[in-house]
This record gives sequence, structure tokens and C-alpha cells, in this order.
Amino acid sequence: MASSTPRAATVAGVLVTVVAALYGLHGAAAQLCENYYAETCPDAYDIVKKVLIEAHQSDERIYASLIRLHFHDCFVQGCDGSLLLDSVPGMQSEKDSLPNKGSARGFPVVDAVKEALEAACPGVVSCADILAIASEISVVERTNAWTCRWLLYTHANYIDHPYPSGYFTLLLSSTATGPAGSITNSPPCCRTTRPWLPSGNNTAGLSSGNSGGPSWGVLLGRLDGKTSDFTGSGNLPAPFEDLATLQRKFRAVGLNGDVDLVALSGAHTFGRVQCANVADPPADRLYNFSGTNMPDPTMDSAYRAFLSQRCPRNGDSRVLNDLDPTTPDTFDNHYYTNIEVNRGFLTSDQELKSSPLAQGTTAPIVDQFASSQDAFFASFAQSMINMGNIRPVTDPSQGEVRKNCRRVN
Ligand code: HEM
Repeated sequence: MASSTPRAATVAGVLVTVVAALYGLHGAAAQLCENYYAETCPDAYDIVKKVLIEAHQSDERIYASLIRLHFHDCFVQGCDGSLLLDSVPGMQSEKDSLPNKGSARGFPVVDAVKEALEAACPGVVSCADILAIASEISVVERTNAWTCRWLLYTHANYIDHPYPSGYFTLLLSSTATGPAGSITNSPPCCRTTRPWLPSGNNTAGLSSGNSGGPSWGVLLGRLDGKTSDFTGSGNLPAPFEDLATLQRKFRAVGLNGDVDLVALSGAHTFGRVQCANVADPPADRLYNFSGTNMPDPTMDSAYRAFLSQRCPRNGDSRVLNDLDPTTPDTFDNHYYTNIEVNRGFLTSDQELKSSPLAQGTTAPIVDQFASSQDAFFASFAQSMINMGNIRPVTDPSQGEVRKNCRRVN
């Protein structure tokens, strides 16, 4: 028999190894599915959504904070809720590690979601899945945002922004050729639907059909792990890292170092960032970039002037800034249009376009997403699914559905 020859056996051995390696990277991703809770907790999505909408009423930033939790969970020992565990004697949690302490937020809202789900369907929906569902809802909610429009007249164009600030004057003084315009408040809310969706198709939810908007079918069925990996948090990409390092870290978790990296970084279209990430070593782009005692030459000078006012040298490192100064709380493609004009906040953002290595790899993808929001949304949805597939725990001997996301049962 052919299969008994040494050569065939070697080929079969290689195949097994390759399959095992793939399995190791993505775990039992194939076992996740969209309708995992269809019978055991059919209202899970709506329950999560209700709690998030309530939380958002007093916390504009919560949607951004929640998607960041999913990212930080998935990159450290897979999407297993390990970030949510509190430290206990003998186990220091990821949430207390450098990339998370003082910046990861939204934990009480996750607790509130968990409580609501436990009341409806006890012991069914995992904390890891809560983060995945919350991420999708967060994006959809911010894409549907009613943008209160401040009209900033320059040359017959305007910018959507929830509040006027000196930023515009500063920003535009470098680009506008005409006289600076006046700022007026238009009727309060201008957008109620997602204009890129065909009419009649403007619903969000667990649909896998790609309607052109950034909603996606969230794959579910992850169990919660029983440990948290404080040291493993070093696998998270850092804001001061160069493109090669970012690509390596994405590839290390089984993601694509180009398209997944660029698309997922687009989550920096909303949320906040502390001054430390642009004005303190090792991320100092404003005062001492890479030990040069000079600012990062890549950064647009008007943007640098603006950030220097907000983040003075030796000032309060915790002062918050918009990651996307153009539309700070809307999920859109302005992250990329900012980068195109050298107004990325983090080194890791600007590297996607400006690193020499970006030519022919990530830069063309930035260009594409800057010119097509639809292309960005389609890629973002796919990359979120890819990220959610990082090493999920599905074997009941390895995980559980926590009753409380902060501790193992
Ligand atoms: C590519 C490498 C990445 C780096 C180096 C990075 C780094 C950072 C840093 C330093 C902050 C600010 C934290 C603070 O100052 O408190 C931040 C915020 C944020 N990140 Fe990333 N990030 C990356 C990728 C991602 C990805 C993949 C996502 C989600 C898919 C994401 C979503 C966010 C969001 C939404 C915020 C704002 C959070 C809030 O307002 O609470 N980031 N990121």
C-alpha cells in the first residue's frame, strides 16, 4: 500500500504536524458559532446591549474601553477572559500589568452585564464571550451615532465634531488658505441611520451577511480560563514599537501582520489616550523622540503644537486626549485620514504609514482605508472575527463559565 511507504509516512507526518500547528494557533476556533446561545440564552445579545446603552449614558468612552478589553484579553493566552480576573495570592492578574494598570477600564460594566445575564440564564454565557459581544455592539452603536454637528466653515466645507475647541483653529491654520471661519452650532443631531447601508437593511445584530457596515456575526462558545498571565501581557503591542515589532506580535498570535494589524488599529478611531503615550519616555514624540532631544519629525507640526499644549513637558501624564481628534467618538475611517496627514497619535499608529517597511506592506492598506470607509468596515469586521478566534477555550476540562468575571468559580 502506498501509504505504508516511508515517504508517504513522512508526508503524512508533516501534514499532521501542520494541522496540529494550525490547531495550536487558533485552538478550537471551528467550534465557535454564531447561534451558540440560541437555545440556552436567546436574549443574550439584547441583554448585553441594554446594559451597554445604559452605561454609555454616563460614560461616553465606554464603548471604546470595552473593545480594548477584548483585544487585551485575546492577545494574552487567547480570548479566555483572563484579563478580567482579579489578582489573588499566588496569581497576579494581567489587569495589574503595565499595559493595563491605570488604562484598561470598563470592568464594572462587564460586571453589570454578567449580573444581568446571570439573572436571565444562570451559568450560561462566559465572560470571554461577553467581551466579544460587547465589542460588536460597541462598534455598531458608535457607527450609528447621532453626530451633533458643529459647522466649521472654511471653504464651503465643514467638519463633524461634538464640540468646538481651539483645536480646529490650530489644526486648520496649517491647511486653510482662506480666513479662519466661524463656528456655529447646527440643529442638534444630524445622522440617524448608517448611510452606507441599503435602505431596509439598517439593522444591527448577529448577522454574518456583510451588508457593508461594521457589524459582524459574533462567534460564540468560548469558555473562561482559570488563570491570568501577568507576564504574558508583554505580548501586547506597545505604543512606542516600530512596525516590524508590531507585525511580529500580530503574527505570533496567528493574525496577519499587514491587513489585521492595519484594520484592527482602526479601533483607534474612538476612545482616549493619556499624555504619557506621547510625551513621556519611551514614547516621547513631543520632546525627546528616540533620544534625539527633538520631536518626532514625522508628526505634523500643527498637531504637535496642539498636543504640546495639552501635554506639556513634565506635565500630568494622565491627561486624556482623543485618539481621533477629527471625530473622537464616532466609528469611521478618520483614523486613516489622520495618519495620511501625519496626525497619528501613537508611534505605532503613524508607523503603519510612515515606516520605511510600510511601503508595499501596510501603507497601501492605510491608503485604501483612508479613501474607502466601506473597505475599512469590511476588513475590520473580518479582522475582529479573526482576533476573536485566537485560542479560545472550548474544552470543559480546561475552562468554565464563570459566575463572576473577577474570579474562578
Ligand atoms: C497595534 C497595536 C496597538 C497599540 C500599540 C495600542 C496602544 C494603545 C494605547 C497606548 C492606548 C491608550 C491607553 C491609555 O492611554 O490609557 C490605546 C487605547 C485604545 N486602543 Fe489600542 N493599541 C493597539 C491596537 C489596538 C487594537 C487592535 C484595538 C481594538 C481592536 C485597540 C483599541 C483601543 C481603543 C478603543 C482605545 C481607547 C480606549 C479607551 O478610551 O478606554 N487598540 N491603545
